[in-house]
Amino acid sequence: MKHHVVLPHLHTAFRFSVKKPAVVGLILFGVGGSPAVLAASSNADAVSRGAYLANSFGCADCHTPMKMGPKGPEPDQSRALSGHPEQLKLSPSPKADESWAWFGSVTNTAYAGPWGISYAANITSDKETGLGAWNEDDFVHAIKTGKHAGVGRPIMPPMPWSAMSHMTEDDLRAIFHYLQTVPPVRNRAPDYQPPVQ
Ligand code: HEC
Repeated sequence: MKHHVVLPHLHTAFRFSVKKPAVVGLILFGVGGSPAVLAASSNADAVSRGAYLANSFGCADCHTPMKMGPKGPEPDQSRALSGHPEQLKLSPSPKADESWAWFGSVTNTAYAGPWGISYAANITSDKETGLGAWNEDDFVHAIKTGKHAGVGRPIMPPMPWSAMSHMTEDDLRAIFHYLQTVPPVRNRAPDYQPPVQ
């Protein structure tokens, strides 16, 4: 007798609880299920992971020029990630001796050593002077092979491509996606100069 009272009640509750999630599911599917929305949200995830990796790896330490601030040298955020400033003329580097092998410029974007002189590249999204015209594969191949854009001359120290090459392809792609969101700064970093013989 008791069952007759309880069962119809449970049945109603069950029907109700099934119906609700089904409606919620339909709404979610209708909004979030469209390929464009899914692509946008996974790109946003890649960008934030890329930002996290780039910040942890210290790309800005070398790719953002230092300027003198009230408390000493500080990164010039108006030129974030734009590499060695093209108009900055440097005096000849000090001479290496048995104790000192390499030197960095006052902006920490130019480096003189046994490899010659290398200049941190513009890695902003600028199309002509940065990475704006690169695609994901150019970037992944450059870091995995240590060759310019994955096909050119060897990438010189102190660019830590060999450490970075241990990252997964997904993480490297995420960094590339993040770099493509960095505001473009027009700055053609000087070409690498091999050592004077
Ligand atoms: C210790 C300094 C240093 C750090 C840290 C550093 N870079 Fe570099 N990077 C350089 C220098 C110097 C060059 C130029 C090398 C050359 O001309 O051969 C360079 C070049 C590059 C290039 C151009 C490669 C090519 O194919 O020509 C890319 C892209 C790049 N860096 C990305 C990054 C990213 C992304 C990070 C952080 C995850 C990073 N770098 C961290 C110093 C650094």
